Amino acid sequence: MLYLTSFLTTLLLLINLSLFTCVQDPPTEAYLFASKRILNTYLAEGKDITIMYGIFNIGMKTAYDINLDDESLNNSTLTIITGLTDVTWPELPPDSNITHTVILRSPLNTANYLNFSSAILTYKLSKEDSNVVTTPTSSPKLVGLIANAEYSRKFDAHYVDWIALAVMILPTLAIPFMMFRHSNNRYATNKAKSH
Ligand SMILES: *[C@@H]1O[C@H](CO)[C@@H](O)[C@H](O)[C@H]1NC(C)=O
Ligand SMILES: *[C@@H]1O[C@H](CO)[C@@H](O)[C@H](O)[C@H]1NC(C)=O
Ligand SMILES: *[C@@H]1O[C@H](CO)[C@@H](O)[C@H](O)[C@H]1NC(C)=O
Ligand SMILES: *[C@@H]1O[C@H](CO)[C@@H](O)[C@H](O)[C@H]1NC(C)=O
Repeated sequence: MLYLTSFLTTLLLLINLSLFTCVQDPPTEAYLFASKRILNTYLAEGKDITIMYGIFNIGMKTAYDINLDDESLNNSTLTIITGLTDVTWPELPPDSNITHTVILRSPLNTANYLNFSSAILTYKLSKEDSNVVTTPTSSPKLVGLIANAEYSRKFDAHYVDWIALAVMILPTLAIPFMMFRHSNNRYATNKAKSH
């Protein structure tokens, strides 16, 4: 599910990028486009949230001193498990991309949604440039949070259901199999007799 969603998002992103490049002349300088996505299908209280940033250079030249700063994650409600919220790369050539991941732990017993805003991306068009280009990433915005108990009910105890299902299905598979075996044996015996 997770792979499917990220595949679809990448596909959409690529379609967006190609539309962009069709409609407008390709920028002659470096031109960065940044996305911020949540990889989880469901978010639940007290569970990990994976945030993935993608930075794409759809321009014609290399971008330098690329900085991604996500102040929105630096707050008392969220715990950062791994990943930097302020990270810098020296350069990004045209037609290439960078991905960056941050894993958070969502809070227990708070609002039933989180409001994810954009991160800020800055970069330079040349190494010596004193001007910095600033652009926000896309933002996941409001994301619903499933209560912990409900999440466990949905996902943790499912193996019990599977075992129950297996036990229920077994006779329906076994009976036709026995009948098949039985008639097969009879057929074999008949065949042996007729010889
Ligand atoms: C988080 O924000 C506080 C104040 O807003 C700042 O002092 C602190 O350095 C920030 N932490 C990080 C990891 O950016
Ligand atoms: C990002 O770059 C990798 C190689 O570094 C490439 O395989 C991948 O297709 C690129 N993704 C996009 C969406 O351009
Ligand atoms: C912390 O950040 C999350 C997600 O960006 C947001 O939903 C939440 O309201 C923020 N909490 C505070 C106290 O700013
Ligand atoms: C979510 O955050 C954005 C930017 O921080 C803010 O403009 C918006 O009003 C927030 N929405 C809600 C429902 O809190």
